Amino acid sequence: MPKRPVIQHLTSPQAAQQWCDAIREKNQTIGFVATMGALHPGHISLINRAHEENDVVIVSIFVNPLQFNRVEDLEKYPRDEASDIEQLVTVDVNAVFTGSPEAFLGESRDKNTEELADPGIYAQGLEGAHRPGHFAGVREVVSKLFHFVGPCRSYFGEKDYQQLQIIKKMAENTPGIRVIPCPTLRERSGLARSSRNARLSDQGRQQASIIFKAMQSANALWRQGVRSPQLLQHAMLEIMGTSDIELEYAELRDPINWTRRQPEYDLQQARVFVAGNIEGVRLIDNMALKS
Ligand code: PAJ
Repeated sequence: MPKRPVIQHLTSPQAAQQWCDAIREKNQTIGFVATMGALHPGHISLINRAHEENDVVIVSIFVNPLQFNRVEDLEKYPRDEASDIEQLVTVDVNAVFTGSPEAFLGESRDKNTEELADPGIYAQGLEGAHRPGHFAGVREVVSKLFHFVGPCRSYFGEKDYQQLQIIKKMAENTPGIRVIPCPTLRERSGLARSSRNARLSDQGRQQASIIFKAMQSANALWRQGVRSPQLLQHAMLEIMGTSDIELEYAELRDPINWTRRQPEYDLQQARVFVAGNIEGVRLIDNMALKS
């Protein structure tokens, strides 16, 4: 039986940079998946896609302090490097890199998010409004990750839609980096896979699946030709109101012409976005409306 190749654990982003340079020297292509660990099937779906389209796959695990706007969220973030690496071995990842905040972020580590580069229009509204500074912190770390990994295809989930758009825009100015959007992986109930789902009780998990039902109800109206964001939103709010979820928002956006607030005009293309808390767990989700 052929032996499984051993995963390379690179313990600094600088070591990852050297490893990636050596791979490109052999004319092999690199698929890159950035993560904060606590790996789940959603992450693995990105890794599988990266394997399909590249010669080698490298994954980063780094819990980026710059993107947490509350210290307790950073402290509570689940960390289990050994079990993450075990999972990466089972899906044949070639290399994983980890390291200290100093190594990943350099001088940016001590900056306030206001001092970082502006993450652009997609950082406005929704998650941007509810988590000040979050996207500036994401943009900063991902620009560093791209610097270390170099030319590659990099895979990001639509689950974090605003993040994906911000990274896509940033990568337009980064030669050799291609950003590949990947669909949201869901549980059978429709609940989007997330490391946070593990903190929900069975009942909480069942309640959480109402987010998907609310988004689907907007899609059903869209199929019938409804284009008014207010009417589509109303359908979602009605369904969300039947659950125990403390709603933060259920809104629509035109994904092409992004606006801070929900538009008041009829939409030609639309995406729905929901965020809410249940059992102390904050959940977000989104979906494109399709006829
Ligand atoms: P993290 O939350 O670990 O997510 C890593 C990647 O997995 C992101 O691209 C995210 O969109 C994707 N992902 C999460 N859940 C998914 C699901 N159910 N289906 C498909 N993809 C999913 O997002 C981050 O880390 C960080 O912000 C990061 C980009 C690593 C920068 O620190």
